[in-house]
Amino acid sequence: MQRDPFRVGRMAAVAGMLVLLAMARWSGALENGLARTPPMGWLHWERFLCQTDCGQEPLQCISEQLFMQMADLMVSDGWKDVGYEYLCIDDCWMAPTRDEQGRLQPDPKRFPSGIGKLADYVHSKGLKLGIYADVGNKTCAGFPGSFGSYQLDADTFANWGVDLLKFDGCSFGTLELLAEGYKTMSQALNKTGRSIVYSCEWPLYERPMQEPNYTEIKQYCNYWRNYADIYDAWNSVKNVLDWTSYHQDSLVDVAGPGGWNDPDMLVIGDFGLSWDQQVTQMALWAIMASPLLMSNDLRRMSPQAKALLQNKDVIAINQDPLGKQGYRITKDNFFELWERPLSGGAFAIAVVNRQEMGGPQVFAFSTAILGNGLACNPTCSVQQILPKSRDWGLHNLVSFLKVVVNPTGTVLLRTAVNKEELMFNQGNRRSQDIL
Ligand code: GLA
Repeated sequence: MQRDPFRVGRMAAVAGMLVLLAMARWSGALENGLARTPPMGWLHWERFLCQTDCGQEPLQCISEQLFMQMADLMVSDGWKDVGYEYLCIDDCWMAPTRDEQGRLQPDPKRFPSGIGKLADYVHSKGLKLGIYADVGNKTCAGFPGSFGSYQLDADTFANWGVDLLKFDGCSFGTLELLAEGYKTMSQALNKTGRSIVYSCEWPLYERPMQEPNYTEIKQYCNYWRNYADIYDAWNSVKNVLDWTSYHQDSLVDVAGPGGWNDPDMLVIGDFGLSWDQQVTQMALWAIMASPLLMSNDLRRMSPQAKALLQNKDVIAINQDPLGKQGYRITKDNFFELWERPLSGGAFAIAVVNRQEMGGPQVFAFSTAILGNGLACNPTCSVQQILPKSRDWGLHNLVSFLKVVVNPTGTVLLRTAVNKEELMFNQGNRRSQDIL
């Protein structure tokens, strides 16, 4: 046999390359193959909170009946068809104690058939079931926490057929335990072999003490809450937007297929937001590549709110396969201009009027500031998506767009880049009023 003196060296180099490749792949998002676009669905918390008294509040209490009704409506009212897929239980589903084997169990009065049966029902409708647990000793509402039982709880959820876990961070102990707990649960879910989307609140609980390490969080979680709980009011939506734009330099680049920033639930269809404010929430949650988890009552909702939540053009922006999160480009008096890069050189543009006095206001801006000058180079078509769909035709780099936006409302546009120059010659400047 002929000897090859370089063989060992070559093999070592190849092995080294393989290790590097594996590391490069591993150092990205949590690679469980899930949440390639922001998850969409329904989550009970903001609307139904911790109502456990089914005698007093049979239609509002946290029970299997509530989730079965929502599952039925998600299919019959077209929610599933437009992408809302995960039906998620939040806090207060549990019995106050674990069972004799130490397993979490649902409250027997409110979930008499058990979570496994509920999961079967939800799956029979072509939907997926989400559940809630907590990294510490107790959930935020005081039910048993998962500390010390991570693998057991992950196995229990997998056995029931659960498809998503929202893992809260109340009573977490120390920062080390918080981080350890979130990582251990991620690995425990993986070990079950079942595909379970993993939703974290790790950075929210960590931030008061130290700046979260998003590179690490992304390796373990499919999406994560950064900021306080949303509530059904314009103040709350405003706070989320202000907080997010203020921190955008550290948040935006982290987001992508497999891992998303979560600004919390959609409260569209509830009580607190005006029509324009609901438009703003929908438009900006699309710009921010946020999970779209509605917390509302699908049994009673205005046709207008339903049409907004089911608007396919906005959902297409939210679900864009490029998976880049948008950001605020400028704030000019009361106007904010946000953009989100989309696949194929397209951009979503949101113009928000933050003035809470007066009537509709005009905002004019040059297309040259969109996409760092790339959005309309050499030309682009502009489509208005919200508040009403409208075609704004072709523009070029020296066009000015002029939009009129209601107080606290948003105009959402989508640009698509064209490779050809404009066929007509209108001098150097073409202006288009978008009214
Ligand atoms: C925390 C979470 C909320 C909700 C409640 C439930 O406050 O941030 O989203 O899950 O707990 O108790």
